[in-house]
Amino acid sequence: SAPTEPSEPAATRTAERTPAELSTTEAWLDPFDWYVEMREHSPVRYDESRDCFDVFRYDDVDRILHDPETFSSDPRNAPGLDLPPEEERSPLLETMLSTDAARHDRLRGVVEEWFRPRALAGRRERLESVAAGLLDDAVAGGEMDVIDEFAYPFPVIVIAELLGVPSDERPTFRRWSETLVEAPDGRTPEAMDDHRREQQRVSEELSAYFEEKLDARAVDRRGDLITVIADAEAAGELSRTEALGFCMLLLVAGNITTTNLIGNAVRCLTAHPEALARAERGDARLEPLIEEVLRYRSPVQALARFATEEVEIAGETVAEGDVVVPWIGSANRDPAAFDAPDEFRIDRAPNQHLGFGRGTHYCLGAPLARLETEIALTGLFDRATGIERATDELVPVRSAFIYGVTELPVEFERR
Ligand code: HEM
Repeated sequence: SAPTEPSEPAATRTAERTPAELSTTEAWLDPFDWYVEMREHSPVRYDESRDCFDVFRYDDVDRILHDPETFSSDPRNAPGLDLPPEEERSPLLETMLSTDAARHDRLRGVVEEWFRPRALAGRRERLESVAAGLLDDAVAGGEMDVIDEFAYPFPVIVIAELLGVPSDERPTFRRWSETLVEAPDGRTPEAMDDHRREQQRVSEELSAYFEEKLDARAVDRRGDLITVIADAEAAGELSRTEALGFCMLLLVAGNITTTNLIGNAVRCLTAHPEALARAERGDARLEPLIEEVLRYRSPVQALARFATEEVEIAGETVAEGDVVVPWIGSANRDPAAFDAPDEFRIDRAPNQHLGFGRGTHYCLGAPLARLETEIALTGLFDRATGIERATDELVPVRSAFIYGVTELPVEFERR
């Protein structure tokens, strides 16, 4: 992309992040037809308005995620992005998600143990009791909004407890997470600029919030993740900015994503009554069912990578510094990788979906997200049967990258 003139007004500098094809309610709810067209006709395409390459086929996406040396996660490798200085300084760029190689491994190593399935097993009972409390309230009236009453608060309470922050601040956490993932309200440069400023403000609020929490932990030590992070900082393993970024990432990475996994699971099941009946009877294994939701309605649809050298993808030449967007939501529907990819099969095997990514950045929270979703669905089926959507209308998360609905009213009979 052309170098930016310093005199250019900020608004015209702001690069679009959302493809034009995915900026309407219909497309947010159903991007899958668009993916078919792209996989067939433009599997790797350069999008001028966003100055990036979109990649749609499974094999290409898989290869990109397996080659972090060529396809870096650090946006500072893409000079064309022209990050404003305040964004470049954001602690969110100093996390495992946006760093590579040794630095990434060092950061991830600080909390890796905590998120192993074995370590989480000890928390199962507490998670079950949080889910039970929410579900008992939610089912009381014979109808509920799956998102608002359950799928949203559940993962937030869980991560707030793991981190060691008060979960009653969750309306603020929700606003923070939503602002960070949502698309701008409109496609004018002004709308995009406003949105970016709003995101920057949230990043600063988050940073100030955790600054205080980290300072408090230096004197008031507890068995939570903030203490682990504060200890790593005290031991010189993390800088203050890295420690802040760490807390911010853990708070926002696992909320809307897990909310959407639970919500998308209920959405898939209500659309497939036979599968739902089996699940409600306890006649379907939940592990493969959850994996199939991760494939069929992936909570994360797209990632971003930054080319460190010139490289070819399926015949297209990508230059050093270019932005590459691997569409895992499309890869997960690629008929070259999956039998009947548009069918929702609750016992699909094998299921090598990319819903949690691949390679070095494979989702740290995957074991937690799976555990939460299994507990969520078990708790729901223990209390409700004959679950049906209460309205036909769906309201999507306003994002091309995060996939889910913001409301999901259902009716059911209480058990
Ligand atoms: C990374 C998806 C839940 C923390 C990722 C990546 C994906 C993903 C696709 C790869 C990003 C990339 O390669 O650039 C999901 C989905 C979730 C979920 C679909 C829920 C259904 C969680 C939870 C947590 C979490 C509950 C933590 C509490 C992280 C972190 C990374 C990550 C820290 C970065 C790992 C690294 O860079 O090494 N997630 N995630 N995620 N996820 Fe998740």
